[in-house]
Amino acid sequence: EFVATNEEMEDFRADDLEVIRDGKPKFIPEEPITDSESNIRYLQTTKVPFGFSASGKAALLGISIDITERKRAEEEKRQMEAHLRQHQKLESIGTLASGVAHEINNPLTGIMNYAQLIYDRIDPAEDQLREFSSGIIEETERVAEIVRNLLTFSRQDKKTYSPARMIDIIENTLSLIRMVIKQDQITLEVDVSDDLPEIKCRSQQIQQVLMNLLTNARDALNERYPEYDPDKTITIRVRPFEKEGRHWLRTTVEDHGSGIPAEIREQIFNPFYTTKDRTKGTGLGLSISLGIVQDHHGELTFESEEGLPTRFYLDLPVDNSWEL
Ligand SMILES: Nc1ncnc2c1ncn2[C@@H]1O[C@H](COP(=O)(O)OP(=O)(O)O)[C@@H](O)[C@H]1O
Ligand SMILES: [Mg+2]
Repeated sequence: EFVATNEEMEDFRADDLEVIRDGKPKFIPEEPITDSESNIRYLQTTKVPFGFSASGKAALLGISIDITERKRAEEEKRQMEAHLRQHQKLESIGTLASGVAHEINNPLTGIMNYAQLIYDRIDPAEDQLREFSSGIIEETERVAEIVRNLLTFSRQDKKTYSPARMIDIIENTLSLIRMVIKQDQITLEVDVSDDLPEIKCRSQQIQQVLMNLLTNARDALNERYPEYDPDKTITIRVRPFEKEGRHWLRTTVEDHGSGIPAEIREQIFNPFYTTKDRTKGTGLGLSISLGIVQDHHGELTFESEEGLPTRFYLDLPVDNSWEL
């Protein structure tokens, strides 16, 4: 049952009048209409004009099909395909990574060692030459970091998994990043209840996901507030929830930073997509994190709207049906 809004009624009337005026049928592929429970449904309508022979009055016949379900199914299919594409993209860099990363590692170590040898032999008075060779070392370290990140993808690098407590994973991650966060005058809030179930996971990897999310939150905050601000906060929250009869844990990483502009939302999970300058970002953080989370049968999503905090949701099933 429909209770169209005034605006919808006006649209219908405008179509009706048009059909009667032009005397031609009209096909409306899709139009919204509000039902009695205030849900929006979609109709596909054909309107055909005719005249009453007795009175000569113009009338019209409208036939509508409710296409809401069809639209929903199409949307679901579209999302599934997008998901699959993303998955395949991750798989392909996984394969690429394991091949290339191993190949790059050896020559890289060579470059680094030679640069160090040069550095050591240069007369300390030769400032500029020293600077150049330490430049080589720094840049090479950057490449090594990228290679290490890429290796997380390769099948060989996957450690075994075990039951773990989210609070421990968070504490381990924070032990690595707490000092930096403090230096940047960011306030950190951790809100984890202690009666949460353990999850089956590769804790090293989940730690890496958290690390990436926290680093991104920190970058976003530093961009918005170069100095101290009461709003310069990161909140980590863990809550249990149920979905389709299964138990999950949702870990939220929230920041009040610069936010994610609508036009880049589709891209942030792409490998090598970054808005940061080359010293800060590689663009691998989120794509690697997504790969890890998908391996865990979990989901990594986010919410970001102008003026509101950015939230990344790391959802993990408590039992991801991996055999222990
Ligand atoms: N919390 C956040 N706030 C604002 N933008 C973010 C946040 N997290 C991620 N982004 C955006 O997503 C991009 C990709 O993130 P990521 O894959 O971690 O790569 P990187 O951090 O190296 O740029 C970032 O460059 C940034 O534009
Ligand atoms: Mg990052």
